[in-house]
Amino acid sequence: MKNILFVASESVPFIKTGGLADVVGSLPKCFDKKHFDVRVIIPYYSCMKEALKEQITYRDSFYMDFDWRRQYVGIMETVYEGIHFYFIDNQEHFACEKPYAGMPYDLPKFAFFSKAALSILPVIDFRPDVIHCHDWQTGLVPVYLSDTFQEGEFYRGIKTVMTIHNLKFQGVWNLEETRSIVGLPPYYFAPDKLEYKKDANLLKGGLVYANAITTVSRTYAEEIKMPFYGEGLDGLMCARSNDLRGIVNGIDYDDYNPETDASIVKTYNAQNFRKEKVKNKIALQKELGLNEDPKAMMIGIVSRLTDQKGFDLIAYMMDELCQDNVQIVALGTGDEKYENMFRHYAWKYEGKVAALIYYSEAMSHKVYASSDAFLMPSLFEPCGLSQLMSLRYGTVPIVRETGGLKDTVQPYNEFENTGTGFSFTNYNAHEMLATVRYAEHIYYDKKREWNKIIDRGMAMDYSWQSSALQYQELYDWLVG
Ligand code: ADP
Ligand code: GLC
Repeated sequence: MKNILFVASESVPFIKTGGLADVVGSLPKCFDKKHFDVRVIIPYYSCMKEALKEQITYRDSFYMDFDWRRQYVGIMETVYEGIHFYFIDNQEHFACEKPYAGMPYDLPKFAFFSKAALSILPVIDFRPDVIHCHDWQTGLVPVYLSDTFQEGEFYRGIKTVMTIHNLKFQGVWNLEETRSIVGLPPYYFAPDKLEYKKDANLLKGGLVYANAITTVSRTYAEEIKMPFYGEGLDGLMCARSNDLRGIVNGIDYDDYNPETDASIVKTYNAQNFRKEKVKNKIALQKELGLNEDPKAMMIGIVSRLTDQKGFDLIAYMMDELCQDNVQIVALGTGDEKYENMFRHYAWKYEGKVAALIYYSEAMSHKVYASSDAFLMPSLFEPCGLSQLMSLRYGTVPIVRETGGLKDTVQPYNEFENTGTGFSFTNYNAHEMLATVRYAEHIYYDKKREWNKIIDRGMAMDYSWQSSALQYQELYDWLVG
């Protein structure tokens, strides 16, 4: 039996701002329980839903040296769908309206979290063989492990994996301040360790000290070795390329299942989608005040509204796109300029564009189920889960060929009758529009072909099964 510990800043169902939470909450369930005991540690945020907090109980507490004082570390726990979750409680750090406040606020918060996650292990009596860290918020875990925690027998020999979900975010802050907060010796703040362009970089610490590095698709694993996608760490990624692998994300096939989904008006499956799926579209048109037209091609968007997701291309093309017979439903929150962009077009093209500027799990399921196509023209995309959810719901993804989008959506080829979606190569607004229009053409003029694209998409398997095996292999290789 191998013990594996996930340490992360978010996890469904407790707290979610993006795909990271989906991964951390769904992957642990998919390991072979006979050989792997996988547990998860996340912060005990005050903004978690009350109903979920009620299921979480107090386990223990102690005081830990951090930032020149002794700070309270509460250990909370629950078992959810068979997985043991631990929560680090300290309301000075984790009382919040949302998990992230940006730098510098997030620096002491997640440095404290990383150190506390290691400190609680003897108390909960769980010695992991592998600690699997996710993103910059946990970048200090491998560093603390190799330093502060090497004195006791307990921690020696524990291996670490650092998974990059998004290289854009690295936890960078002023070197002197960071050093004084995290409390590591000056030795660590050198250019071959945590120092980065005269600042301190927490993710870099994790990438230097972890035994293995993974990221969430094969293509992204290659891309980040190049300057355009490397966010300044491409040199390090090249240097560690022997220890870097890309393992594509899956999604929870129970949570995202058009056949059983309680959030949608009409359930359907790969056999009956031709008749049943459209009922969701009609219901959503009614609900959102869009023109009630079962034939109109509905294009869905569910996303954080940031430039990563290609909204500059969309903003540039909205007027032209809206001349076509399409409806656009955009669900998302984020940068004000994109929120207002969608609000503006919803006003300008009333009945054709719906701007849903909020976060709602239930509405996201409705959009995946109701739309005919799903637009995701990302500038970069480590993996992307929304296109996988779309495929699962028989909604045809239109994507840019980058990162996980390239690995999971096969472009339609009308001569060979292959493909599960539509894609384009360059980050170029006209290329995107031409691809959307090509999709419109197939949708309106070659409906049988369109439906076959859906057949192929719904037949794909992006559950966790095969990727969980790859993580198991990695753990086996590390631990021996
Ligand atoms: P990222 O992690 O970069 O945001 P992913 O595609 O990996 O992108 O994951 C995004 C996740 O967040 C998906 O589960 C998607 O459905 C969800 N999501 C994004 N915005 C919203 C929203 N406004 N309401 C509900 N779910 C959302
Ligand atoms: C990040 C990436 C996204 C990926 C998710 C989960 O948020 O932006 O592409 O799917 O992490 O790994």
